[in-house]
Amino acid sequence: MKITVVGAGAVGATCADNIVRRELAQEVVLLDIKEGLAEGKSLDMFQTATLLDFDSRIVGSTNDYAKTAGSDVVVITSGIPRKPGMTREELIGINAGIVKTVTTQILEHSPEAIIVVISNPMDTMTYLALQTAGVSKHKIIGMGGILDSARFKTYLSLAMDVPPSDLQATVIGGHGDTTMIPLTRLATYSGTPVSQYLDETTLQKVASDTMVGGATLTGLIGTSAWYAPGAAGALLVESIVRDQKRILPCCVYLEGEYGQSNICLGVPVVIGKNGWEKIIDFGLTEAEQAAFNKSAEAVRNMNSVL
Ligand code: 2OP
Repeated sequence: MKITVVGAGAVGATCADNIVRRELAQEVVLLDIKEGLAEGKSLDMFQTATLLDFDSRIVGSTNDYAKTAGSDVVVITSGIPRKPGMTREELIGINAGIVKTVTTQILEHSPEAIIVVISNPMDTMTYLALQTAGVSKHKIIGMGGILDSARFKTYLSLAMDVPPSDLQATVIGGHGDTTMIPLTRLATYSGTPVSQYLDETTLQKVASDTMVGGATLTGLIGTSAWYAPGAAGALLVESIVRDQKRILPCCVYLEGEYGQSNICLGVPVVIGKNGWEKIIDFGLTEAEQAAFNKSAEAVRNMNSVL
């Protein structure tokens, strides 16, 4: 198994770090356009192999896509990150050009690769990658919902004072401050509805904190977050390379599912060795479906800028 991570910034490097620690592939390639950055970070990471007890080999590359040849999975994190006060959507101009170029070069050397898109605005970048790649829709997966769901579970866990691992909660829709939909109705604490433990006002606060989860961190840190985005990317890669068939909220191409078409948007999907294998119908209420349609409209407007 060979995995490439494009972009050795904070998110890409953290994702690669999680991938080697979990030994998801024999060989991991970290690529960046900045001279020496990927080589340096890869060597630093590889020097943790005997400290953290892993054997995955990680190598860096300055924009030499030949080194990525034959990758089974490629994670695209390239592009500029958000600064405080910026929305993910404001990154579209610069990041669209980057994601398009990266997708083309990746496929030249790894035509069979499953591509995971993390670059923002993620829903639009996933759509762009799919249009550019012209491969099966099952091979292009946007990662946003796994991260947003992790944040949702974090805020639930803090509000309820229970372990995050006992919580199940999903965010669908767009990966944007106003487009994501934390499904509070379906969130459970070991199988029991969280509404048994939290009043409506607190639940609403958890949902709104989740929606601005990324912006909150950007305000605190001064740039985009990376620990959770990187770990969320690696978790998605793990379900692919280990063929786990986990149900994860991911941004995929819809053709009528959830009432939407010709758009990439976050829905629960089964993730395995073939990419996203099946969309799971959560049976949305009328209000949830209305929110999903509104989210689709916003993402579609963004896509039209392409
Ligand atoms: C976030 O939400 C980077 O979009 C990513 O933190």
